[in-house]
Amino acid sequence: MMSDGKAVIVDRVIKVYESRGERVTALREVSLTVDEGEIVTIMGPSGSGKTTLMNLIAGIDKPTAGKVIVFGRQVHSMREEELRKYRLHVVGYVFQQHNLIPTLTAVENVLLPMTLAGKPDEARARRLLEKVGLSGKENRFPEELSGGEQQRLAAAVALANEPRLVIADEPTGELDMATGEKIIKLLISEARDEGRTVIITTHDPRVARMTDRVVLLEDGRIRGSYSPQRIAAEGPSGEVAVERVIVEYFKRLLSDVRERKAKLAERLARGEISVDELVEEYNKLRSLEEAIVDELSRLGAGVEAF
Ligand SMILES: Nc1ncnc2c1ncn2[C@@H]1O[C@H](COP(=O)(O)OP(=O)(O)OP(=O)(O)O)[C@@H](O)[C@H]1O
Ligand SMILES: [Mg+2]
Repeated sequence: MMSDGKAVIVDRVIKVYESRGERVTALREVSLTVDEGEIVTIMGPSGSGKTTLMNLIAGIDKPTAGKVIVFGRQVHSMREEELRKYRLHVVGYVFQQHNLIPTLTAVENVLLPMTLAGKPDEARARRLLEKVGLSGKENRFPEELSGGEQQRLAAAVALANEPRLVIADEPTGELDMATGEKIIKLLISEARDEGRTVIITTHDPRVARMTDRVVLLEDGRIRGSYSPQRIAAEGPSGEVAVERVIVEYFKRLLSDVRERKAKLAERLARGEISVDELVEEYNKLRSLEEAIVDELSRLGAGVEAF
């Protein structure tokens, strides 16, 4: 089957989870096309179906209905052995809960997918670790690395087999842009050099702005997409409806972030966090708040300042 320069085609996909007699519809007829070499962000509230969509594209789960076609291959109808190869050779997945093997060192974690693919290359594994800023930590076990370092290791593992498609599910963690920025920049600059296709989910507008297109998912449906670059360059575009939806999303995200900031003092009083943790969390929330306000003003929406 031809893919016509399309990396990913998601066609009217429905995903229903059934657990203990309860049915949850996570995706309601989602259609999405990503061009080869395109770098796309998926944004949306918690529970909107982002991880579900990523899992279907990565061949980790199957849609209840609809098609998922990646580089012309019908992922939705692949059998187990074909799926295993697809996941190993075509897709590099940076998971929301990064899936590092705790009993393997950093370099061994990167070597594992290479070995499974039949081409272990320790020098390349070490170069990848250097790229993500983990030189000197090759022989540490995941639990001996910080959260940010574990995320960077997970990115190196995802790139081990030079995947054509990189899927990164909240690779910056919830808020930590300082460490996250490095991973995202690496993923994106590598992808641009190699002509890779990348799909990233995030709540962070700074991440979204590094990509070509932002797609907004809400309650299992795609609500619209916009180009952050174009808006920055030319001011508000003609796609008023789409922008309004994105603005609504950012406003909700902003009030959520402000509420969490306001609750930090209570959490300190209850002994749930230390003063150091409060300061760290406050700074992260504040930086995210600034990024959202900035993005809203680019979108031409006024919000009251701090
Ligand atoms: N294995 C599962 N079994 C049952 N329901 C599930 C399962 N995985 C996800 N869901 C439900 O499907 C919906 C979409 O979940 P999903 O994890 O895709 O959301 P998300 O957008 O990634 O959220 P977050 O931003 O919190 O990561 C939610 O209502 C969730 O509770
Ligand atoms: Mg998720």
